[in-house]
Amino acid sequence: MSKDTLTIIDNRTGKQYEVPIEYETIKAMDLRKIKVSDDDFGIMSYDPAFMNTASCKSRVTFIDGDKGILRYRGYPIEQLAEQSTYLEVAYLILHGELPTPSQLQDWTWHITHHTFIHEQIKKFMEGFHYNAHPMGMLIATVGALSTFYPEAKNIFDEESRRKQIYRLIAKIPTVAAFAYRHSVGQPYNYPDNDLTYTGNFLNMMFKMTEVKYQPNPTLERALDVLFILHADHEQNCSTNAMRSIGSSHVDPYSAVAGAAAALYGPLHGGANEAVLRMLAEIESKDNVPAYIKRVKSGEVRLMGFGHRVYKNYDPRAKIIKQVAHEVFEVTGKNPVIDIALELERIALEDDYFVSRKLYPNVDFYSGIIYQAMGFPVDMFPVLFAIPRTSGWLAQWEEMLLDSEQKIARPRQIYLGYDERDYESMEQRQEKEAKTATASD
Ligand code: CMC
Repeated sequence: MSKDTLTIIDNRTGKQYEVPIEYETIKAMDLRKIKVSDDDFGIMSYDPAFMNTASCKSRVTFIDGDKGILRYRGYPIEQLAEQSTYLEVAYLILHGELPTPSQLQDWTWHITHHTFIHEQIKKFMEGFHYNAHPMGMLIATVGALSTFYPEAKNIFDEESRRKQIYRLIAKIPTVAAFAYRHSVGQPYNYPDNDLTYTGNFLNMMFKMTEVKYQPNPTLERALDVLFILHADHEQNCSTNAMRSIGSSHVDPYSAVAGAAAALYGPLHGGANEAVLRMLAEIESKDNVPAYIKRVKSGEVRLMGFGHRVYKNYDPRAKIIKQVAHEVFEVTGKNPVIDIALELERIALEDDYFVSRKLYPNVDFYSGIIYQAMGFPVDMFPVLFAIPRTSGWLAQWEEMLLDSEQKIARPRQIYLGYDERDYESMEQRQEKEAKTATASD
């Protein structure tokens, strides 16, 4: 008769243990009872980079990396990208269900009416150096928001949580656009409540002397689709940071600042920026084979390729490729797309990439679209952070309300010195002198 347990025999003692299997997982804490003696600490599992460890139970996002499936709250990403809007998806991710018309109206009203930032925040941003990276400005400014909303510390008050969620989703495009305008030395554009979430963001980014900014509907929709695709991606590096920081019960502004910092790295959300820098370095289609050679020799990584979870074509990259064509009809073709397509073509035929299951990920094409739309490369990680804020917040709230969660605190395997006595400065000096004489 089959049983949902795992039998472990400890060959050091000959003892046998039975641990339950639930959701094809065993609890690492069940290993603790495996001991050689009563005063033994018990066995731990070792899993650097969480390669095979589930850190939570979640109902937000489902990924099947082998099949290339991504779903938010059960809905396939393809259907959401085709039929939904970013604000509707943010509602879905946070609340678990698609909104009714009145719920969506209420949600949109709240987000729209929290887009302004305190004038002091604006002044704070003015203090940055003229060439400050906008992602650094975003991280610092989101962290600074916590000082303006001290009641955000009441993380177990549902009403307060709701308010901070409205504020964060609403204000992050404003902070992002102000960071950009600061970096180009242009005056800040205040939010326009008549526009959609993405339309208003384009307004704050690009409005110049016109009285009323009219976003191009194709670009507005393309940006909305890109925001849908980036809204959540289960337990990635920045979401894990959000949950980990949030597990200390700090306010959500501080936690989002930490998550955004994790996103900034070139192996995560900074990859879209790195892709564009790579394409610029390659320069032309003719140089692609030589670049692939450098990748294969381990000299450089092919940015925008590979994923910890997807061992198949990233479903988001497929949708983005389609969006690219729509955007290019308005903006004209971004010439680097030809280099990207050639890289993809050669890589997908090459055994190095095929055997390692390395496919284009979300970052491979997104930057090419952003660049065609007029966003500078520095803004790419910021464009990732804006929509991911809803995912971070949903995962944060899920963590807070999960009775099994506690402050995140991994164990370690200590391999350093055993106890040793402090050496005085004279003893160290003497030792140094002896080593110097020995090497003379
Ligand atoms: N170019 C060349 N080789 C690669 C690449 C790449 N982009 N990615 C993985 N490999 C190789 C790697 O060298 C290793 O080879 P070997 O087995 O011979 O040592 C093998 O493939 C497995 O790679 P890994 O580093 O063990 O895989 P990982 O799961 O730790 O890393 C990754 C995942 C996304 C960090 C990595 O694929 C990478 O660095 N990609 C480039 C950066 C990038 O595009 N990041 C965006 C990820 S998607 C969006 C997001 O998370 O923000």
